[in-house]
Amino acid sequence: MLVKGSEILNKAHQENYGVGAFNFVNVEMLRAIFEAADHAKSPLIVQASEGAIKYLGIDMVLSLVHTMSKRYPHIPVALHLDHGTSFESCKKAVDAGFTSVMIDASHHPFKENLELTKQVVDYAHSKNVSVEAELGRLMGIEDNISVDEKDAVLVNPDEAEEFVKVSHVDYLAPAIGTSHGAFKFKGEPKLDFERLVEVKKRTNIPLVLHGASSIPQSVRQAFLDTGGDLKGGKGVPFDFITESIKGGVNKINIDTDLRLAFIAQVRKMAQENPAEFDLRKYFNPGIEAVKAVIVERMQVLGSADKI
Ligand code: G3H
Ligand code: 13P
Ligand code: ZN
Repeated sequence: MLVKGSEILNKAHQENYGVGAFNFVNVEMLRAIFEAADHAKSPLIVQASEGAIKYLGIDMVLSLVHTMSKRYPHIPVALHLDHGTSFESCKKAVDAGFTSVMIDASHHPFKENLELTKQVVDYAHSKNVSVEAELGRLMGIEDNISVDEKDAVLVNPDEAEEFVKVSHVDYLAPAIGTSHGAFKFKGEPKLDFERLVEVKKRTNIPLVLHGASSIPQSVRQAFLDTGGDLKGGKGVPFDFITESIKGGVNKINIDTDLRLAFIAQVRKMAQENPAEFDLRKYFNPGIEAVKAVIVERMQVLGSADKI
């Protein structure tokens, strides 16, 4: 059943577990995500970026998600706009039937971020849709970073408190050292958990971890075995994910792991069966691999067996 984002995340916030927010760009990824949630008995957030909406068309995004949520009526699912860049983009998603939107104005000065977020919150709440906002910049931090440099890029807990109080945003993504993609950290993985705990204490709302792919060994190996190049790429280790949830994160954004798992299977098929050109023979192993990644992750996040 399609529900608003805060219905899923407020429960996770009260009961201290994480819910995966999985990106999709096609029917195969969406099928894998729903089939995994069904298998793991987990609530679900599916998210489409502006790029995904451009690729599929917003009407297709909605109809695919409606179809899947009718197929699995027992799964509470929120449809979320990932990294909305303007009021107009968020309004379009709300009007089309998304049940959650993110306004990503974190690159603006604090006051402008707050004003734009408030504008989105006012509109979205009038239509019973939840809102996520972001504070700080998404980037990895190094061991030798100075306190001043850290303060300049990561979330400021005082600002987070004021931001939530004034904007009435439903959930907040505080930058604590993650970044998107396969190259999150320059050195060893490092997150500012102390800052996270402080933000949770001051805001007491669900928090969001962007760039939360872990690139576990099985995903890395399958990608490398089929000729993939990951260079020095690494993800957020599972124990960091668990620690983040303990510190108050409830929405965990995952895209890269799913892309890597899917593409490895497509590549394997192409290498092993050069004469094959039935698309389904390529995509089915991809769907199965993505499903396995998500089922395992739902167990790590603690959302498995919550429905
Ligand atoms: O945060 C970004 C997501 O992984 C979506 O990426 O803009 O390439 O669709 P995209
Ligand atoms: P990854 O691609 O690093 O998993 O991050 C996804 C994300 O944060 C989407 O908003
Ligand atoms: Zn993100």
